[in-house]
Amino acid sequence: MSSNQEQIEYWNDRAGETWAELQDRLDALLAPLSAAALAAAEVRPGDQVLDVGCGCGDTSIAMSAMGAKVLGVDVSAPMLARARSRDASIEYQQADAATMDFARAFDLVFSRFGVMFFDDAAAAFQNLHNALTSDGRLLFVCWQPPARNPWMATAGRAIAPYLPSSDEAPNSRAPGPFAFADARYVEQILQDAGFSRIRIKSHEESLKVADTLAEAVQFQTRVGPAARVIAELEGDKRAQALAAVEDALRPFDRGSGLHLDSAVWLVSAEA
Ligand SMILES: C[S@@+](CC[C@H](N)C(=O)[O-])C[C@H]1O[C@@H](n2cnc3c(N)ncnc32)[C@H](O)[C@@H]1O
Repeated sequence: MSSNQEQIEYWNDRAGETWAELQDRLDALLAPLSAAALAAAEVRPGDQVLDVGCGCGDTSIAMSAMGAKVLGVDVSAPMLARARSRDASIEYQQADAATMDFARAFDLVFSRFGVMFFDDAAAAFQNLHNALTSDGRLLFVCWQPPARNPWMATAGRAIAPYLPSSDEAPNSRAPGPFAFADARYVEQILQDAGFSRIRIKSHEESLKVADTLAEAVQFQTRVGPAARVIAELEGDKRAQALAAVEDALRPFDRGSGLHLDSAVWLVSAEA
């Protein structure tokens, strides 16, 4: 398959449709992390901003409200359709940020969880570096390792026994939510792409995943690594996997909703 083709198909198929359908819910879940990333980005009125993997547009809308001129870029048609329906005044483009030619230079390249899906991350970040003005800046937020993100990994661990067996060792840097979990790897990619003043800061938040245990199980069947596995299961196996997810999440049900820890890297750099 050609570069990024697998992810382009993934985000145009069930994943993109699910994210578009659950947009309100996902934006509410990610709101504390979004706020931290937007504060760190120090968006200035008049800034030309590229929002990479903008998805359903939440951060594009937020930065536009701060006075920036935003171009949201994403490969996912269903997510961009959702973004356009939310605010038609923002410019969106369906394109692969790793290879697209940029018609203008940007003061800020920003991303909320949209830069971990490149087949060739080094080449993609060289392209993003080329998108910046000479004094432009980069700010993105990405996930730390699964062990530091029980809000996503708890269900993932529970369904592990139901994964198809494979002789291949998993590649922790393969495109996916945890591809940038290793901060030293991220720093190397940015250095090689020509970025300077690279800072990688840890940020932790407790996320409210759901109001009830049943809602939390349902949510994990729709979004994230566990959802990919559960979607492939049928009959008894599916019922057993769902029961395993429920058992794993039960300890977090304390009557006031299910709150689970998360940890991200806030990554900033200059052109
Ligand atoms: C986890 S979602 C995050 C979406 C959005 N930034 C948010 O926080 O709600 C990852 C996004 O990256 C997009 N994406 C993946 N690979 C991409 C690429 N090569 N170029 C542009 N967007 C890409 C996906 O389509 C998806 O919208």
